Amino acid sequence: MKAVAAVNIQKIYGNGTVALEEVSLEVERGTITGLIGPNGAGKSTLINILTTAIDMTSGHASVYGYDVVRERKQVRAVIGVCGQEREIDFTLSVYDNLRFFAGLYGLDNPNGVVKDYLAQFELEYIARRSPMQISGGELRCIQFIRAIMHTPPVLFIDEPTTGLDPVKSELVLEQLIRLKERGVAILFSTHEMNQAQKVCDIVCFLQSSRILYAGTPEEIIRENCLLEQVEIEYEGTLPAQVLKTLSDNYEVERIQPLIISMQRAEQFIDEAAKSILSVSGLKIIDIRIHRPNLDLAFKKIARRKHSTNNRSLA
Ligand SMILES: Nc1ncnc2c1ncn2[C@@H]1O[C@H](COP(=O)(O)OP(=O)(O)OP(=O)(O)O)[C@@H](O)[C@H]1O
Ligand SMILES: [Mg+2]
Repeated sequence: MKAVAAVNIQKIYGNGTVALEEVSLEVERGTITGLIGPNGAGKSTLINILTTAIDMTSGHASVYGYDVVRERKQVRAVIGVCGQEREIDFTLSVYDNLRFFAGLYGLDNPNGVVKDYLAQFELEYIARRSPMQISGGELRCIQFIRAIMHTPPVLFIDEPTTGLDPVKSELVLEQLIRLKERGVAILFSTHEMNQAQKVCDIVCFLQSSRILYAGTPEEIIRENCLLEQVEIEYEGTLPAQVLKTLSDNYEVERIQPLIISMQRAEQFIDEAAKSILSVSGLKIIDIRIHRPNLDLAFKKIARRKHSTNNRSLA
């Protein structure tokens, strides 16, 4: 049994917006799947459907073997959820919010667990405050703790590290890896490509309501941006002849800063860059090499699609 199995999910909102079209995906136990894709691609919609928060228009989905439409209660009992909204009970203190859920989850030592998580996130100082009196990042951490403290078999998190400082982000990622090692199936959305590349076993790239790519981060990188990029920041105007020479031999992605894709960036800088650029009289400010990574793959996929859309509008 798959921890999450979604088949041909379609979601059309009441105003006619098509948020998901024929989206299918599976998540195995003890793995982390990342949902990535541009704003408005449908990531939150998919998470909301799988966590029973909203209904799909058509398709099928099960979580831990339970149907998300017909067995909502059972689904809710086996998942941890951390959505994009600021859901919390503002009439209770931060501590009591967590304590309430620890009791609801039937944890053996609820007070101990809550105290332990607050200590791990160095958030003891907000325990007695109202959620109205804490920062956005602090609230996000509390929602994350609430979602994971009972080690649910399946965990859904919409942008777990948005708004968190780098230390807290790392703590969250460490927790995700720890949960995965304990067999939890995790599906989370993110715009942090370095994080997705680091922790995800599988990445699904959603764009315009569809999954364009699904695979390991390495597979997506390999398929979409085999080339390294050299970025050259300069002062002055790039002569047309130099641009032509570069375009004839490499893929010129941008002019200012000059971004060129190629197989061997270091070799280009050592051998070609000086001879090509020095004659142009440009003042070079900085030269950087970008190795292929998920961030580059993301931009490449997103821009490709964007230019296709523009063409179809023309
Ligand atoms: N309640 C709603 N009613 C109508 N349309 C909606 C509703 N919620 C979202 N949408 C639309 O559905 C599409 C998918 O939205 P969704 O929130 O799932 O995107 P997302 O991938 O999570 O984006 P982001 O990265 O910005 O969080 C978008 O076009 C959005 O405008
Ligand atoms: Mg979203």
